[in-house]
Amino acid sequence: MKIEKSDFGSLTSEEKVYKYKLSNSSMSIEIINYGGIITNINFPNSEGKKIDIVLGFNHLDQYLDKQPYFGAIIGRYGNRISKGKFNVCDKLYQLKTNNGEHALHGGIKGFDKVIWSVEEIIKKGYVGLKLNYLSRDMEEGYPGNLNVNVTYILNSKDELKIIYEAVTDSPTIINLTQHSYFNLAGESSGDILNHMVSINADSFLPIDEGLIPTGEFKSVNKTPFDFRELKKIGKDINLQNNQLKYGLGYDHCWVLNNSQKVIRKVAQAKSLKSGIQLDVFSDQPGIQFYTGNFLDGSLKSKNLKAYKKRAGFCFETQHFPDSPNKSNFPNVILNISELYKTETWYKFSNTNR
Ligand code: BGC
Repeated sequence: MKIEKSDFGSLTSEEKVYKYKLSNSSMSIEIINYGGIITNINFPNSEGKKIDIVLGFNHLDQYLDKQPYFGAIIGRYGNRISKGKFNVCDKLYQLKTNNGEHALHGGIKGFDKVIWSVEEIIKKGYVGLKLNYLSRDMEEGYPGNLNVNVTYILNSKDELKIIYEAVTDSPTIINLTQHSYFNLAGESSGDILNHMVSINADSFLPIDEGLIPTGEFKSVNKTPFDFRELKKIGKDINLQNNQLKYGLGYDHCWVLNNSQKVIRKVAQAKSLKSGIQLDVFSDQPGIQFYTGNFLDGSLKSKNLKAYKKRAGFCFETQHFPDSPNKSNFPNVILNISELYKTETWYKFSNTNR
């Protein structure tokens, strides 16, 4: 197992960007210190040929331009906060709004757009990167100096483990996630509608027109949101349904079963074409399943094709959107002297080999 480091450009003369390639004997994962972005995941298809299964770009400039969070670490608060307003200790905070009237994915300059410091980890059976970022008090409007570590581990079992840790010196809110767009048939292979997906959730969170949860927990039974058994993404995505209309497809948070802060299997996806399967394990209460509905063909893929609508999907493990404003959603406040620690694993395999 090894880590190879290479130059990937720079933001300023002081802010250099590096790419780190983590490999085991069968696969590799490439990560940059800008945004902690996973740029490439190469995994063997049914013929044994390695294909790249995440959306992204070849050049830093494309990551610096407006782009929909390809591969990035998201924080401080992943997903939406209604009107960017929330209370902590009876004090009202106002974030900048960057998604219509709402705040999305940490703000104008979220964790996806900062340089992380990197420590390489080489151990028996795994390699990894420990990324660190200190988000200053009131950065993007959030209270408290928040010291964040995100550790990416690749082990010999083809598992990518992501461990998020944070401490604060003043009560704040936090909801970290990872925003990789997967296409298990290959990043330039077209849409993901033929992928099979299952999500271990009996209910999901309905949203309003602004994609803010209404607060209701709705059973998936007899709805297009029922992924309790493996189902093609495309099977129900175009049905007449108000929720699908608001999301332009799937762009919802599922309420994962057995939420006791223990790591358990929460979702699976599989491409019948490449045979590549992704199993997701997490200790989080929710998963945002987003089917790339806003991709519009304007961004060029790594193989110089266009990333069109539904070219990739995201499995963003997380706390529920707009939790700070929903008293019936689990707590997202981090207090002084508490350690925020959560874990998500993406396990890759190929059932045809
Ligand atoms: C959200 C989408 C959003 C996308 C950013 C997802 O996490 O749920 O609504 O458009 O991120 O491109």
